[in-house]
Amino acid sequence: MLTAAFAVTVHAEERGEAARGGLEAKLDYCKTCHGLSGQGYRGYFPMPRLAGQQPQYLENQLRAFIERRRTNPIMANVAHVLSPAMVSALAVHFKNLDPKPFGGAPRGSLAVGKRIYEDGIPEANVPACAACHGTDGKGQNEIPRLAGQLYDYTIGQLSGWARVRGQGSAIDTSAIMAPTAHNLSRSQVEAVAAYVGYLQ
Ligand code: HEC
Ligand code: HEC
Repeated sequence: MLTAAFAVTVHAEERGEAARGGLEAKLDYCKTCHGLSGQGYRGYFPMPRLAGQQPQYLENQLRAFIERRRTNPIMANVAHVLSPAMVSALAVHFKNLDPKPFGGAPRGSLAVGKRIYEDGIPEANVPACAACHGTDGKGQNEIPRLAGQLYDYTIGQLSGWARVRGQGSAIDTSAIMAPTAHNLSRSQVEAVAAYVGYLQ
């Protein structure tokens, strides 16, 4: 009886150990692209910041890559092997990281970016970003954190929205953001991307 209970405990511990080892190995893998502290990395593609990201948003995007609602061949391959438990563990880990913003965005139009972020552009039907993403850019639930995000990554997403997000027949959360991305001009995208890139 005692022996059986002991064996069960040992097994449970081994399983926990293996799961933790699995998580560590996965994190190392994510960080080869997304940066050692999840701050993002500028390689051949910009690798987005994951640090401080809302767990629900992160999980939703991983599902979107798997279901090809969001097209990216690299992330589709990375995501489709992750178990739901692993996805949750990764999301919690990244939420708790808080490195400084990657930086490097031009500073010339930060004031314009701040105005767009806080007040929107009423004449172009662009709502205030802060209304959804929060004044500090931290996001909530399925609305992403934008604070500290890489400048070129943000520009890429906003200017390519209709091509990479909300693909397939089902309407998903990307539809909430689609009209705003569509109504921003290139220079407005650059200004607001620079502004959020410096938010901590
Ligand atoms: C080989 C490089 C590479 C690896 C490894 C990698 N990623 Fe990515 N990841 C990318 C790229 C590139 C993008 C941007 C995709 C795009 O432009 O849509 C991305 C995007 C993402 C996004 C969307 C971020 C956002 O703000 O919308 C999430 C979430 C993500 N990766 C999580 C992970 C996790 C978790 C791991 C580890 C299990 C991982 N990635 C491993 C390259 C990588
Ligand atoms: C009505 C709410 C709402 C408003 C207003 C809004 N957003 Fe969003 N935004 C969202 C949601 C929801 C998502 C997640 C979309 C998805 O799931 O694909 C998002 C996603 C994004 C992303 C992608 C982030 C990433 O990591 O890939 C960027 C960039 C973005 N928004 C920028 C902005 C900017 C800039 C403004 C203001 C001009 C703005 N948003 C206004 C709701 C909003």
